[in-house]
Amino acid sequence: MGYRVPFVNPAVSYRLIKNEIDAAYADVMSRGDLIDRGHLKRFEQCLADFVGCRYAVGVNSGYDALHLSLRAAGVGPGHEVIVPAHTFVATASAVVNVGATPVLVDVGGDFNIDCDRVEEAISERTRAILPVHLSGWMADMPRIMEIADRHGLVVIEDACQSLGSSVEGKRAGSWGVTGCWSFYPFKILGGYGDGGAITTDDPEIALKARRMRFNGEDRETGEYHHHGFTCLLDNLQAAFLDVKLRHLPRWIERRKQIAELYRASLREIDDLLLPHYERPGFDHVYQNYTVRSGRESAFSEYLSTNGVEVLTQFRKPYYRHEALGLEDRGFPETEALSREVCSLPMYPELEDEDVLFVIETVRAFYGLS
Ligand SMILES: Cc1ncc(COP(=O)(O)O)c(C=O)c1O
Repeated sequence: MGYRVPFVNPAVSYRLIKNEIDAAYADVMSRGDLIDRGHLKRFEQCLADFVGCRYAVGVNSGYDALHLSLRAAGVGPGHEVIVPAHTFVATASAVVNVGATPVLVDVGGDFNIDCDRVEEAISERTRAILPVHLSGWMADMPRIMEIADRHGLVVIEDACQSLGSSVEGKRAGSWGVTGCWSFYPFKILGGYGDGGAITTDDPEIALKARRMRFNGEDRETGEYHHHGFTCLLDNLQAAFLDVKLRHLPRWIERRKQIAELYRASLREIDDLLLPHYERPGFDHVYQNYTVRSGRESAFSEYLSTNGVEVLTQFRKPYYRHEALGLEDRGFPETEALSREVCSLPMYPELEDEDVLFVIETVRAFYGLS
């Protein structure tokens, strides 16, 4: 179905920066620089600078960033890793695929891990906490770092949805031993295919990740240090991402403007919970604008059938998929929000008139003009 306002619009986004993207493509292709070349190194440096870390290591996806981070931090069989019950499944899958056990913890009203529940999930086997910064809003990192320090745990940040967000001026991905990034096309910094990265201040972790992404090989010496993987960020994707990263601060400002437009016209609707959390020091970059409606799927279905494409991730929490074999310890907040979530269109290329159309459609559902 064609929507009056689609959830994302990659073609418009490309049109607006076509000259720069096409120039990057021509540069890579005419040099024949495809694998592990200058564009990748340059993008890694720019990403590290943006996040506020010493190193960035480009990989194939956000999943790979999580997977390699866990391995580089020494997480493996016999270990437990604390993860939120509400996240994309890849967060938990990375833990399972290194042979460790994810221990799920419910989230709070901001969709992020509930720090009051983290300590009760810690056992003598716990090795790491893997908080997720969902939708552009960071988990309570000062508190998580304090808990981790007290218990001697590693922190790996799943920052795949929150590039540019910060707490007390310190950006997502610069708090834990690593920050994990996804450049899946519809992320806040999206490539034209899969992509990801690890950011870290730790030279050993960066070195291990660099080797693991290239089959365990040290590219300088040719020595294989262990069995590894093939999961390097393509040089071409890196060149595109480098172009887009330069636009990111301006795009984030536009996302914030759109969020304010939504807020101004929707806040009077008591049934809707809007993603404005008002915590001093926390900066929201609105990768997603996810509201909660007490009218559940009636709300999201009304928007879809009236020209507004929305996302309802996830009506079925990942731990309820039996084949994954995860322990459901009872997560009331995750259960409630899973019935209620609805993400409205949110991307920098949205025109004000598109935002107004979404607002009018939401208001019409609630019988308001
Ligand atoms: C929170 C979170 N973690 C992990 C991932 C995995 O990223 P990718 O799809 O690049 O593997 C994603 C992206 O979809 C995500 O949103």
